[in-house]
Amino acid sequence: MSHSNIQIFDTTLRDGEQVPGCKLNKEQKLIIAERLDLLGVDVIEAGFPVSSPGDFASVEAISKIVKNATVCGLTRSVENDIKVAGEALRFAKKSRIHTGIGTSDSHIKFKFNSNRDAIIERAVRAVRYAKTFTEDVEFYAEDAGRTDNDYLARVCEAVIAAGATVLNIPDTTGYCLPNEYGAKIKYLKENVKGIEKAILSCHCHNDLGLATANSIEGVINGARQIECTINGIGERAGNTALEEVVMILKQHPTLNLDTNINTSLLYSTSQMVSEHMGIYTQPNKAIVGANAFAHSSGIHQDGVIKNRETYEIIDPKDVGVTESAIVLTARSGRAALAYRAKNVGYELTKLQLDVVYASFLDFADIKKEVDDSDIHKIIKSSSIHKEI
Ligand code: KIV
Ligand code: ZN
Repeated sequence: MSHSNIQIFDTTLRDGEQVPGCKLNKEQKLIIAERLDLLGVDVIEAGFPVSSPGDFASVEAISKIVKNATVCGLTRSVENDIKVAGEALRFAKKSRIHTGIGTSDSHIKFKFNSNRDAIIERAVRAVRYAKTFTEDVEFYAEDAGRTDNDYLARVCEAVIAAGATVLNIPDTTGYCLPNEYGAKIKYLKENVKGIEKAILSCHCHNDLGLATANSIEGVINGARQIECTINGIGERAGNTALEEVVMILKQHPTLNLDTNINTSLLYSTSQMVSEHMGIYTQPNKAIVGANAFAHSSGIHQDGVIKNRETYEIIDPKDVGVTESAIVLTARSGRAALAYRAKNVGYELTKLQLDVVYASFLDFADIKKEVDDSDIHKIIKSSSIHKEI
C-alpha cells in the first residue's frame, strides 16, 4: 500500500502564542520560525496580522526569511483582516490566508446573532476575497467539533466552490471523542461535493486530553493535514502536540502515513520553544519531557540494560536525545548500579557489588537520586575501596 503524506501545519506562533503568560518578541518569533522551517513543517502559521501592529510586523518579517514552508496568517471573515493578512504575507515565497467563522449553533447565535444561511454567505465572501491575495486559502469552521455534520458539509461545499483549498475542521473546545471526530472527517470525505479539490485538516484542542488521539483518528479517516504546536502549548489545555503526532505516525508504519519532519530535531526544538516562551515542559511529557527516556525502577533498568527495546518503543536518538538515562534511586537494582559504576570507571565483581549496593541503598534512601559524584563517594567510603 502506498504511503500518504500528512502535512504538518505548525501554529506555535499563533494558537501557541495565545497561551497565558507567553509573550514572544519579534526576534524570538523569527528564531522559532527559522527552526520550524529547518524541522520540516509544511506550514508555519506566523500570527494574526490584524490583531496588533507587532503581530503584523512579525508575520511580515517571518514571510521574508522562511525558505521552504508556506507562511500563513489568520483572519476572521472580515474584509479588513484579510486585506491586512494579504499585505503582511506579500513577501512570502509561498503564502496562505487562513480565514473562517464559527459554525456551531452556539457560535452562530451567541457570537454572531445570525443564522446558518447568513454564515455561509459570509464564509463564501471571505474566501473569495482571500483568493484575490493568494491561491492558497484555508477555511476554518470554528467549533466544527460541535457543529452538526449536515450543516458542516454544506459550509464545506460552499467554501470549496468559492476556492478554498484546505478545510480546517477544528475541535475548538476539545470536546469530541476520538471515534466521533474520526466519524466527522469520514462523513465530510464521503458527503461533501467537490471534496477532491481540497484537503481536510485536523485542529484539535486538548481540554479533555484527547487532542493527539483526535488528530490521529482524523488522519486515519482521510484528513491530510494536522495543525499542532511544539510541546502542545496553546489556549487553555493547549493544542495537539507536534512531536506526539509525528512520532505516532513514524512508530506505526502500518498506518502508511508519513510526514516531512526531521525527527532528530524534535528534542532541541522543544527545549528552544520552552526557553523562549518561558513555559516549562512537564517532566513526563511524551517524547520531549525530561523523563521520557529515563528509567528508574530496578525491573525496568535491568531490562533496558540488557536490551533497550524491553522498555523503549522509540530510539532516543530518533528524537535527538543522546541516550536513555538510568536514574539511580532506592528503587534501582544491582544491574543499574553496576552499569552506572562502570560508566564512571569501576568494574565491580559480584562480591564487591553486594557490598557497595548495601551502602548505596542507605545513601539513596536519604538522597533520593544518586549521581556520578555520589557513586565515587559511596565506593570510596566502602570496605572494598582498597581493592579497586
Ligand atoms: O481552535 C480554533 O478553532 C482555532 C481557529 C481560529 C482555527 O484556533
Ligand atoms: Zn485553535
